Amino acid sequence: MAAAAEESGWRRVGFVGAGRMAEAIARGLIQAGKVEAEHMLASAPSDKNLCRFRAMGCQTTHSNPEVLRSCSLVFFATKPHILPAVLVEVAPAVTAEHILVSVAAGVSLSTLEELLPPTARVLRVSPNLPCIVQEGAMVMARGRHAGSYEARLLRSLLEACGQCEEVPEAQVDIHTGLSGSGVAFVCAFSEALAEGAIKMGMPSGLAHRIAAQTLLGTAKVLLQKGQHPAQLRTDVCTPGGTTIYGLHVLEQGGLRATAMSAVEAATCRARELSRK
Ligand SMILES: NC(=O)c1ccc[n+]([C@@H]2O[C@H](COP(=O)([O-])OP(=O)(O)OC[C@H]3O[C@@H](n4cnc5c(N)ncnc54)[C@H](OP(=O)(O)O)[C@@H]3O)[C@@H](O)[C@H]2O)c1
Repeated sequence: MAAAAEESGWRRVGFVGAGRMAEAIARGLIQAGKVEAEHMLASAPSDKNLCRFRAMGCQTTHSNPEVLRSCSLVFFATKPHILPAVLVEVAPAVTAEHILVSVAAGVSLSTLEELLPPTARVLRVSPNLPCIVQEGAMVMARGRHAGSYEARLLRSLLEACGQCEEVPEAQVDIHTGLSGSGVAFVCAFSEALAEGAIKMGMPSGLAHRIAAQTLLGTAKVLLQKGQHPAQLRTDVCTPGGTTIYGLHVLEQGGLRATAMSAVEAATCRARELSRK
């Protein structure tokens, strides 16, 4: 097992559910050298996704309780509506040694704690798909029996997949609206930018590459300089120049109000799903 895992004394990392998000986290952990692939075990009902785990060198099984029996740190990465039944299934295998982490959108810490043994150490993470290239934007919240040790451990692991900050649970659904769903919003914007260029005569492949790189470069400047977006926007806006003409059109189209409403709508939907 890699250094981080040895230091913290836990045995293996498990994944119950082996889809896109589990794979993104597993890849990040392996690529950052936090956990060796052979020390990871993933479960799912079919081989559809497990074959990708095997290709990474991980162990796989069709038994969820087996993941709990062999791993002390377990990520639950099934779809949210499946998770309650999965938790009931694995609950008898949960011990005081386990650290249990749910990535399921909209499943609250209290629901997780209700379905697991009373003192289970539970945390909730809201990830996003760019974890797959170690550029995730994640937040996590801890349950009643997870202390600062568990939070530190999880954070140090997840930093292999991008940024991870601890927040009060009330902010997790907002993160889902901003960042989980935000990936799709940003894709829509990138696509629209590229299509503007295609309309003006640029070849499609080039337009999409340039649009995506423009998002990446802008994000890097904002993060590395710690700048407010309004400052950077002002910096590229020459009086009477091209950018202010374009920005005027975006304002007429209500881009900002629409983006704000999109995050609001996705957050409200996440909250609605949490209550179900
Ligand atoms: N994708 C995102 O961008 C994103 C962002 C934030 C949060 N999340 C959360 O991440 C979780 C997983 O999403 P995903 O996109 O990775 O879903 P996904 O690709 O559909 O993967 C779901 C996995 O769960 C497995 N599964 C189904 N029933 C199971 C059971 N009874 N026991 C164990 N495993 C079972 C599936 O098995 P098979 O392989 O046999 O189909 C599959 O491996 C969701 O709760 C979602 O809310 C996802």
